[in-house]
Amino acid sequence: MDLPIRPRRLRGTAALRAMVSETSLEPRQLVLPLFVREGIDAPVPIGSMPGVVQHTRSSLRQAVAEAAGLGLGGVMLFGVPERKDAIGSGALAEDGILNVAITDAVAEVGDALTVMSDLCLDEFTDHGHCGVLDGEGRVDNDATLAVYAEMARAHAAAGAHMVGPSGMMDGQVGVIRAALDGAGHHDVAILAYSAKYASAFYGPFREAVDSSLVGDRRTYQQDPGNGLEGVREALLDVAEGADIVMVKPAMGFLDVVRRVRDAVDVPVAAYNISGEYSMVEAAAANGWIDREAAILETLTSIRRAGADVVLTYWAAEAARLLRG
Ligand code: PBG
Repeated sequence: MDLPIRPRRLRGTAALRAMVSETSLEPRQLVLPLFVREGIDAPVPIGSMPGVVQHTRSSLRQAVAEAAGLGLGGVMLFGVPERKDAIGSGALAEDGILNVAITDAVAEVGDALTVMSDLCLDEFTDHGHCGVLDGEGRVDNDATLAVYAEMARAHAAAGAHMVGPSGMMDGQVGVIRAALDGAGHHDVAILAYSAKYASAFYGPFREAVDSSLVGDRRTYQQDPGNGLEGVREALLDVAEGADIVMVKPAMGFLDVVRRVRDAVDVPVAAYNISGEYSMVEAAAANGWIDREAAILETLTSIRRAGADVVLTYWAAEAARLLRG
């Protein structure tokens, strides 16, 4: 039959498909989140995230070196302290686990890789919230900002190239920018978790950081139904000095990734979170899906939606797959 338009013509060979492929996926666009736990002498597997571990300081160094060797864009470090308290003091201490891990990572790779740090209190507080609490047990926005400012200075002093405020306190990016500049850290960049939703898919992460949270984070993280609000949060963060804005989670929020990409003129990141990882791993372990194909399709979809950078627990493996 004469059909003037046959889209299948461009799908007939692998070469044709490659030539017209719209979306690239490259190791440099991927960031590997890594957990480092205080007081352990061997890596501890995270049951709900098969293949992911809580690192010792020395296994973290190896993981960071490997990430650099694979040409990844960066690593995002999370600390799991031995002791937690109401104000998260472990986050500020010079010998706190995250601060020493940042120094270790930078000592290992220098500027070959972007070393980023999660700037939040939930791993360090005994109540598990991302901030300090007021007399009524509510998360106190402005009191928390003062702690974030100190934490930003601690991460920068430890050598972080970029800090990632993830606590969703109002004004956090502006306060952190001012704190960094005030301490002479003008070159330390901010990757803002801008549109961060209160998601059920963070479940496995809570195990990864031994979280003690009871309840939820709905007074500071966003309602999953709100797309426009995600754009508003991203615009606010750009105005406050964010160098990169992030949407999180990724897969259930690809429309928000697109809307934010269209609305801002800074790079956009998306976080392919723990629950998204575990779903694919669990299905693959049951033989229900092709694991490697599902990984690449997931990451490609996040890129297609508009993310320039993707944080993913598969970063190292995806880099290996992409190199063939
Ligand atoms: C907060 C933080 C969280 C994640 C990244 N940073 C947890 C939360 O907000 O509850 C989740 C990442 C994931 O689920 O993979 N420090």
